[in-house]
Amino acid sequence: MKRLGVNIDHIATIRNARGEHHPDPFFAAKFVKKSGANSITIHLREDRRHINDGDAKKICSIKNLLVNLEVSTNSKMINSALKLKPNFVCIVPENRKEITTEGGLNLKKNKTKLKKIISRFKKRNIRTSLFINPSLKDIRLSKELKTDCIEIHTGKIANLVKSKKNHMIELQKIKKCSILANNLGLEVHAGHGLDYKTTKFLTKIKQVKEFNIGHFLVGESIFNGLPKVIKNFKRIINKR
Ligand code: PXP
Repeated sequence: MKRLGVNIDHIATIRNARGEHHPDPFFAAKFVKKSGANSITIHLREDRRHINDGDAKKICSIKNLLVNLEVSTNSKMINSALKLKPNFVCIVPENRKEITTEGGLNLKKNKTKLKKIISRFKKRNIRTSLFINPSLKDIRLSKELKTDCIEIHTGKIANLVKSKKNHMIELQKIKKCSILANNLGLEVHAGHGLDYKTTKFLTKIKQVKEFNIGHFLVGESIFNGLPKVIKNFKRIINKR
């Protein structure tokens, strides 16, 4: 069975728009699990633009919930992540000005640093994943770094599919990388920019075991949830 990890960062984005408490990511984490997700993902960014330290602490302490914490290689962030003790970590590149994670890690440049980070998490039995571009070179480097998993950045294929351009070359590239990673004993995950359509294409790659999906999933939930909430309000305002 392929697994679905639900990224709830943008529930915090909506909460933060008002600086109050609703919608609460802690409640969302429990609700998402109850709704069938295999795990939840949160990205504790250096600028705390969505999930904050309090959210992360509360969410990581929920029993029987698998939490995948995304963090950058910044040493302060790594220390925070180690304290939070999530089940899984995914190391991601971070750039202050980006709207979202724009690409995979530069493994070559950060080799020594990443090796140390991975070893620190492994010592604490935290599953490690590296967010990388679909490149055979990066798959081989990931193996050298002794990570448990790799997550392939699917932003490029997602954009090609959304703009109705040919996505076959990118899909083949992801497939080749997934096969190599799997042969090397790395678990393969996929994430970024995924909607129904791109996810469907990627499910053809049997080596991809986990999908981590956030923005589209949270956005789509608005449309699925609106009828019920509107009904609730109509009942409230018309109650005599
Ligand atoms: N996986 C990783 C490693 C991410 O950093 C993100 C968020 O950028 C996602 C998955 C989810 O991406 P999206 O919100 O576009 O579905």
